[in-house]
Amino acid sequence: MLVYQNDVFKFQSSNLKAFNLAEQKFTIHEFKLQDLNRVMDINLECLPENYSSYFYKNLHRKYPKTFLVAKVNGQIQGYMMCRIERGFSKIRKFSPIKLCHVVSIAVRKSHRRMGIATGILKQAMTNAADIYGATECYLEVRISNFSAIKLYEKLDFENVKRNRGYYLDGEDAFVMAVTL
Ligand code: ACO
Ligand code: ZN
Repeated sequence: MLVYQNDVFKFQSSNLKAFNLAEQKFTIHEFKLQDLNRVMDINLECLPENYSSYFYKNLHRKYPKTFLVAKVNGQIQGYMMCRIERGFSKIRKFSPIKLCHVVSIAVRKSHRRMGIATGILKQAMTNAADIYGATECYLEVRISNFSAIKLYEKLDFENVKRNRGYYLDGEDAFVMAVTL
């Protein structure tokens, strides 16, 4: 079983005082098909962008090393899934490269601000570069999603573009990207 220990991230949160430290340790694992219902539930709970089970299974089949889950006390509390694409760099225009597109990331409300999203993003970006040869990571985020934008900025993503009316409800998206 592939398990990444994330002690490094464990102590970074400023909100830890409210919790029992021993229970805050999280581990990062590759997604398995048996995790599908739990991940779909977390997605429904956390985001308005939802997907069919086929969509999850397809991303997992094609890019298993960048489909990760975080567990606390053995239970999944967050996930992230990506697509590896060939395309043009979002940062240095007109350079054809391999990109890691973060399709979706979410952490359950009860387990936020303990470094889980940072941990899974860092691990997935490392895997995208080392295993799939991606040299850039990018994503779209709602312009109103302050906490997610802060998270990406902290990981050195830069805001490269605004996509007008990107979401079904008409909200704009920022495209954010980082060199791997
Ligand atoms: N307010 C301000 N800054 C925040 C917040 C917040 N509510 N949440 C995270 N941050 C920033 C902080 O700088 C934080 O570092 P700090 O805690 O040391 O101050 C940093 O991000 C890292 O936070 P993590 O603990 O790693 O993030 P977390 O595990 O809480 O997950 C996430 C963040 C994924 C955005 C979570 O809030 C969530 O699931 N939100 C709902 C779903 C969502 O919006 N997903 C992203 C959509 S875009 C996409 O999927 C491509
Ligand atoms: Zn996207």
